[in-house]
Amino acid sequence: MPYAKFQLVSKKGDDVSLAFQQPSEIKAGDCFKISDSASEIIAQVYDVRYGGLKKAFSEFIQKLNGADSSFAEFLGRNKHAFNETWLAKCKIRGTLSKQGFSAGTLKSPAAGNIIEKISGQQLAQILLSNPRKPASIGTLHGSSAPIEIDLASFQAVTLITGRKGSGKSHLAKNILEHLIQNGAPAIVLDVNGEYARLKQSKQSGFGARIVEFIPGKNFFIPLDGIPFETFCRMCQIEENHNSFRLFSRYWAERPERKNLFHLRSWITESGSPPGTIGAALGRIDYADSLGVFGEFNFGQSLASARAGSALVLNLFQQGEKIKQLSIVYVLRQLIEAGMRGEGKIFLFAEEAQNYFEKEFWDDVITRMRHLGIYSIIITNEPTTLPSMVFRQCDNLFCFNFSSENDLAFVSQAQVIDPQTLFIAKNLGLGQCIAIGKSTNGFPLVIQINPSKGQAGGETVLLWE
Ligand SMILES: Nc1ncnc2c1ncn2[C@@H]1O[C@H](COP(=O)(O)OP(=O)(O)O)[C@@H](O)[C@H]1O
Ligand SMILES: [Mg+2]
Repeated sequence: MPYAKFQLVSKKGDDVSLAFQQPSEIKAGDCFKISDSASEIIAQVYDVRYGGLKKAFSEFIQKLNGADSSFAEFLGRNKHAFNETWLAKCKIRGTLSKQGFSAGTLKSPAAGNIIEKISGQQLAQILLSNPRKPASIGTLHGSSAPIEIDLASFQAVTLITGRKGSGKSHLAKNILEHLIQNGAPAIVLDVNGEYARLKQSKQSGFGARIVEFIPGKNFFIPLDGIPFETFCRMCQIEENHNSFRLFSRYWAERPERKNLFHLRSWITESGSPPGTIGAALGRIDYADSLGVFGEFNFGQSLASARAGSALVLNLFQQGEKIKQLSIVYVLRQLIEAGMRGEGKIFLFAEEAQNYFEKEFWDDVITRMRHLGIYSIIITNEPTTLPSMVFRQCDNLFCFNFSSENDLAFVSQAQVIDPQTLFIAKNLGLGQCIAIGKSTNGFPLVIQINPSKGQAGGETVLLWE
């Protein structure tokens, strides 16, 4: 029998270990085909370790000594073949048949099975054949096999996470570009002002499809666009403030309220005691000083985004209150549009966990997808998100994490097993583990394509 390059050394449930000699040959994310005459099992490497077999092998030989000296001698002579043995720890992902790949671990590998490494091309072909709306986002890590994911799989809740500078926004922009080029509308909560720069993109027609909104400049928040509680919180109108009741009367009695000008004259003419009116006007002056309240028709802007463009709300260098108010307003408008049957829009939320109100997460997970609002949430602080978001997301793109704590948190994601997720500790720039609808449930280690001349999130330098 020819010497097998990879040898099955242990199996337990869906976990198998394969021994081999060339450590540079195998890395986490690689896949093996373990086959007998009837079927083919696909197993994926989640860790490569030093085998430590050398010692076990020596002990084995010692035991054999005296039993069958010729066999012991043979093994002893070939001891070098077992030096520096490495172990590929693998998870069985499923089986391959004529019908294609099916997930699950019904079959267990056995001694004597043929074990071969699957090339990147083969793997991509097995897993990602015939996407309806193909988007080329990168290559399988360590191979030149292009990865084309189906944009349709983003009609869901997608999380992009990883430490700062690992390549999250770069991937998000890449996905955004594909969506727009395919005629999908999108809205971006651009907390760091990096998407607005896509306007300068040299890509054919792409820059022109980015519509930038800047609060206080060409984006305003009508008073009826946010909940009364949010208005009070932002303008420091506490419940024990003597003007609180006056404001709440205005909100209740003036459903058509539109702007601070109306509010001011209504309060002045309210017949309230002068002290109360004075206090209320003081709060209105404060609201006015934020410079963001005004008449605005966001629904109209949304409608204009229908034909494949992105509305980018540039929140860079805005105060915390304006960021929060703008995000609350936009999300409410989106949900209202969804309820009118005018959803079908992709929402990119960058680092927005800091500005989302708690109820928003329930909305994302439970309501938004039914309203046709597909969210792509990008964060380098996973622990600030409710764990339910990780448990229920449909797609996860996990970039490098140096913190075990962050990774342990992300590993609550139901779409991935913790062992596989821990590959993320060793990923380089632009590399991620992708899993979920977009990879047909199979974790893929992807090297995201570098940009094609698009403006990135680079630090602006004084000295190049
Ligand atoms: N796949 C990639 N190929 C080449 N450069 C990349 C890639 N991903 C990110 N970069 C670059 O690395 C830097 C950080 O990436 P970015 O996506 O802004 O990180 P993050 O959003 O995770 O903080 C940027 O300058 C970006 O252009
Ligand atoms: Mg970023």
